[in-house]
Amino acid sequence: MNIVATDFNAVTLSETGLTVPLPQGPRYFNYYWLRDNCPTSFNAETRERSFDIFHLDEAPRAAAARLEGDTLVIDWAAEDHVTRMPLAWLAIYGDGHRRPDPADLPRKAWYGDHYPEVARFSHAELLSDKARVRDWLEALIVEGISVVTGMPDSDAALTELANVMGQVRPTFFGPYFDVRVHINPTNTAYTSAALELHTDVPAEEHAPGIQFLHMRANTVDGGRNLFGDGVAAANDFRAIDPEGFRLLAETDIPFFCEHDGYDMRAWQRIIELDRHGEVSGLTISQHLLDLIDLPQDFLDSWYPAFCRFGKLLQSDKYVMRFTLKAGECIVFDNHRVVHGRAAYVAESGERYLRGCYTDRAEMRSTYRALVSAGRFKA
Ligand SMILES: [Fe+2]
Repeated sequence: MNIVATDFNAVTLSETGLTVPLPQGPRYFNYYWLRDNCPTSFNAETRERSFDIFHLDEAPRAAAARLEGDTLVIDWAAEDHVTRMPLAWLAIYGDGHRRPDPADLPRKAWYGDHYPEVARFSHAELLSDKARVRDWLEALIVEGISVVTGMPDSDAALTELANVMGQVRPTFFGPYFDVRVHINPTNTAYTSAALELHTDVPAEEHAPGIQFLHMRANTVDGGRNLFGDGVAAANDFRAIDPEGFRLLAETDIPFFCEHDGYDMRAWQRIIELDRHGEVSGLTISQHLLDLIDLPQDFLDSWYPAFCRFGKLLQSDKYVMRFTLKAGECIVFDNHRVVHGRAAYVAESGERYLRGCYTDRAEMRSTYRALVSAGRFKA
């Protein structure tokens, strides 16, 4: 009787790749991927790939491969090159899913009673304490809103705060904006009228991510600030009105911003979903909603759904109402948190907000760098 011995620890080769017996079970890896991601392909100093796969004369193929302890060793067929790849590294990066992202934190919905619980930080601590910066960015990722107190009454204070997480991200009207009553206003914000709940700059193809509003002076009668969580409202809308939700999450709608020297246009979805199909935010602005260029009979169903959602969003359940004080800066996710203000009496005092934006992706980058070792750090 013949007994055929099977080596369960052997690496098996095929034409296009090899199969490695990982502790989780055997897993296939493509030769291009293995060659391109050989640890020697990366420059330790620049932390970028220095290997150029386009320069290989023929498709990479292993001549032989074996395990040496916890390392996969590959001798390449057409190259005088050996790849040594840790099995732990293969287990993390080679399973066909996005690699773990410390900034991919679950969102926490909040409601109209959230104001006392809004995460608060001081300008001074964010400029000096990395642990507080980490907490601040985490609050922005999870809840999408925070208040920074103790802001010096200067233009520089806002720039310093924004630079804690990234660069100031200009829009087509410049790097900063000043919200007060203007002569010849080009925007409803620059009047003393009420401003309905909205997200900013929807007419830009990539609307800015994180918004900063630094209250420099606020002694007027009225003008209470309104803030609501688009994720909370849209999640509830999804449960109450699935067909309306679908219409708002699947239809591109035109937004505009037009005056003497500009004519910005972009198409956005009112409700935004992330790659998991979860609500990630909103784009909504009635004062910048363009004439909708969709078939009129489609609007028979879209417009009522839009109004049902708008009424829900404006209800007390979702809207925090408070007065931002001079010396405070509210920082929030412009793709998630809707904001507005009540009308105020322009002659009753002074109201001056100075604002800017940063990028959401850059904010997450700063967060990752604070909480994780990354791929290249020891
Ligand atoms: Fe705004």
